[in-house]
Amino acid sequence: MQTVKHAYIETFGCQMNERDSEIMAQLLARADYQPTSDISRADLILVNTCSIRAKAEQKVYSLLGRLRRYKKKKPELIITVAGCVAQQEGKRIQSRMPHVDIVLGTQNIFRLPELVARAAEGGRQLAITLAKDFVIPSFNGVTVPVLNEKDAAGRSCRQFVTIMQGCNNFCTYCVVPYTRGRETSRRPADIIAEIEKHAAAGIREVTLLGQNVNSYRGIDSGPADFPALLQAIAAIDGIERIRFTTSHPKDLSDELIHCFARIKKLCPHFHLPVQSGSNRILKSMNRKYTRESYLERVEKLRATRPDIALTTDIIVGFPGESEEDFAATVDLLETVRFHSAFSFKYSDRPNAKAVSFPDKVAEDVKAARLSLLQARQEEITLRRNREFVGRTLPVMVEGRSKTDGQCSGRSTTNHIVNFPAVDLAPGRIVEIRVEEACLHSLRGRIIT
Ligand code: 5AD
Ligand code: SF4
Repeated sequence: MQTVKHAYIETFGCQMNERDSEIMAQLLARADYQPTSDISRADLILVNTCSIRAKAEQKVYSLLGRLRRYKKKKPELIITVAGCVAQQEGKRIQSRMPHVDIVLGTQNIFRLPELVARAAEGGRQLAITLAKDFVIPSFNGVTVPVLNEKDAAGRSCRQFVTIMQGCNNFCTYCVVPYTRGRETSRRPADIIAEIEKHAAAGIREVTLLGQNVNSYRGIDSGPADFPALLQAIAAIDGIERIRFTTSHPKDLSDELIHCFARIKKLCPHFHLPVQSGSNRILKSMNRKYTRESYLERVEKLRATRPDIALTTDIIVGFPGESEEDFAATVDLLETVRFHSAFSFKYSDRPNAKAVSFPDKVAEDVKAARLSLLQARQEEITLRRNREFVGRTLPVMVEGRSKTDGQCSGRSTTNHIVNFPAVDLAPGRIVEIRVEEACLHSLRGRIIT
């Protein structure tokens, strides 16, 4: 009898990496590697990596260093590095970390079983080709979510679905065009078939993923652009909520804005990374929009869908950012009053143009700017969250909350809502009257 083999997977970075890890877990399961959360039992360790900021990359190398002792104990253990650091560093990873057996690039995840089989026979495998005309394989038949939030029976009601990957924008700070390659859209028929299968398995909410979903272009037949794709997904029975991320402000069309009025299932939440509130810095970042045009898009979104929650990403301390530029960013936060914002200190990334820009901002200045900005945003977020108190929101149950006797779910605006209840099925929508607002969640009670 063949003994069961185990795969341990560690994922860093964005939702696209999470989805890729799910897919790789399923490919491994087909090759008789069952998932385990106990690393010491693993016959295969897969590290799916992120390279977006220097700190993310450092975390990867520190984990890889710690894996050395597992390989020493069990020489037949197969260690695989996938994702953006794998793509960026290629065989340099294996020179620095000789215990790594497989380096798997972002466009090559479907080759994992073949590379594992070859690595099992000894030797090192490398698959990091990035093709201009890459088409994401159909990958039909593999849909069961394995890494999302789950209830006791292992069910989940939410699912990430990749619709495109890669980026053609070349923002001067960003490594993604080099780690994910050029923009590549999935075939509409594959996306729809995948979501239909998720719906049949009990999924009620999908989040469509891509580095820039608004430049989605249908290939072969079916919906030709992103608004048409949204419409087609909204027609799938069982899917009650649709979200997407991320969208570039320069590509935010009137047509997509109108979708928020037209498509009932489209949740009123928009993540629209602004990065800076200074036109001088936006230009240097190669963002191709201005503060004014960004604000105009925000106004139009709010006019179309007044209850829309807006979130954003900000980089502080981009090369050349003066006190005045930074003040313009803080001012923009206060003008827009985002529901929340992710903010980061600028860091140099390999191949990105800004590496060679003069006037780098000192680390302590970046840190001071980041904490000032985050403090301001926290005040705004809390005030925004308090606006929900006294209102009744439809909340999709996700499962038990960390606190006993409480369930947790999400509002259409993507706020986490906790409320007293026992074991409601994930995916059920309940009406919650909000009684209290915290920084990261809302609290309320079911209205019967
Ligand atoms: N330094 C700091 N933050 C960065 N981001 C992307 N590249 C960098 C970098 N070099 C941030 C941007 C992006 C988010 C995913 O990460 O804000 O929107
Ligand atoms: Fe990280 Fe960006 Fe790659 Fe996602 S696409 S894994 S955030 S570098």
